[in-house]
Amino acid sequence: TGLVTVDPGFMNTASCSSEITYIDGDNGILRYRGYPIEQLAQQSTFLEVAHLLIHGELPNADQLASLNNRVSRHMHLHEGMKAFLNAFPRDAHPMAVLSGALSALSTFYPESVGRGDYEIELATVQLLAKTATVISYLQRRGRGGDLIEPRRGGHYVDEFLRIAFSDGSGEVDIDPEVRRAVDLLLILHADHEQNCSTSTVRIVGSSQANIYASVAAGVTALSGPLHGGANEAALRMFDQIKESGDTVEQFVAKVKDKAEGARLMGFGHRVYKSYDPRGAVVKGVADTVLEKLGGDNQTFDMAKRLEEIALSDEYFIERKLYPNVDFYTGLLYSAIGFPHTMFTPLFALGRMPGWIAHYREMMHDPRTKIGRPRQIYTGVVERDYVPMEDRE
Ligand code: CMC
Repeated sequence: TGLVTVDPGFMNTASCSSEITYIDGDNGILRYRGYPIEQLAQQSTFLEVAHLLIHGELPNADQLASLNNRVSRHMHLHEGMKAFLNAFPRDAHPMAVLSGALSALSTFYPESVGRGDYEIELATVQLLAKTATVISYLQRRGRGGDLIEPRRGGHYVDEFLRIAFSDGSGEVDIDPEVRRAVDLLLILHADHEQNCSTSTVRIVGSSQANIYASVAAGVTALSGPLHGGANEAALRMFDQIKESGDTVEQFVAKVKDKAEGARLMGFGHRVYKSYDPRGAVVKGVADTVLEKLGGDNQTFDMAKRLEEIALSDEYFIERKLYPNVDFYTGLLYSAIGFPHTMFTPLFALGRMPGWIAHYREMMHDPRTKIGRPRQIYTGVVERDYVPMEDRE
């Protein structure tokens, strides 16, 4: 079987080739299908980017309208799905509910389960639509509200925010700048090539598991604090620094000491060895949005100070640790009105088009084989069974 070498964390092993996303980690470059992230963040909308990632090209006006319509028509949830969501405690972590919900969706929409073009296209629309509904419902439920029906024909982000934040009347006044910020955050999260969750989606899908099961596994991978869970962990870290009474300098010293295993959450990246271009965009909009919403400027100032200290410190310079996308996003989500536990579900909503695009690319790649890494066995070579009475 040839030479097997161990590569923990796949630091140097490519699992596939892909045409979807390009990253140059040394120079802080991120492009979706060749388009720079900065241009997409500034000029496009989330569904446009979803079309770009999934189908390879920016949609023309008709294609975008059609995607919008199809997604909007599928935002409602089956009564059984609502019962499923209502069965969890109101304070259940939404990432746990979300992965269960995405897997469960396949049972309500069997006509979209399969690997044919029709099924995959329908599942794509169902997942884009229903992930938004599930997450906005969970936000609503967490605040003690009852579920409300999605409306057809609305703009994706508007409808998401309406379900999440409207009062009993079903109406809510969303500031256009907030809506734009949410659109932009979703775009920034839409894909990031072979990260932990996307690789999980591909490896699960490589067994020919259906797309719902595969993206549900992606959600569970995303939930960890070293991956998508870092946005929630970063805000908790800011809170802890404030509560501890430590100065920012004292906290950074603890991180460098590694004594309590503390890391600067929202810092560092496997691929970026320079400023994460997504982090730069988020930091740029945070100023305006926090100003507009009267957000937590004290925490924002503290985060900026943490960044400043870290970027001029030998420990972080040597290891090329810069803020990543998760460092500032929590501050924005918080200012918009999302509790800490909703930050990672928002990341999942953004990442959905990327997971779908990778599942589809993998499915159509004739070189795809079931993901099955090797290992090097280091245990006992062979020994005879020991009867119970002879064991120590
Ligand atoms: N704070 C302090 N030290 C760090 C940090 C950090 N955030 N990140 C890495 N290091 C140190 C690490 O201790 C190691 O030091 P040494 O060489 O002395 O042992 C060195 O830098 C290399 O770290 P690593 O853990 O080998 O790097 P990795 O590529 O395996 O891990 C990472 C990448 C993102 C998991 C890691 O940087 C980290 O844990 N960051 C904090 C969590 C975080 O913000 N995750 C979000 C990533 S971006 C969005 C996403 O993917 O969801």
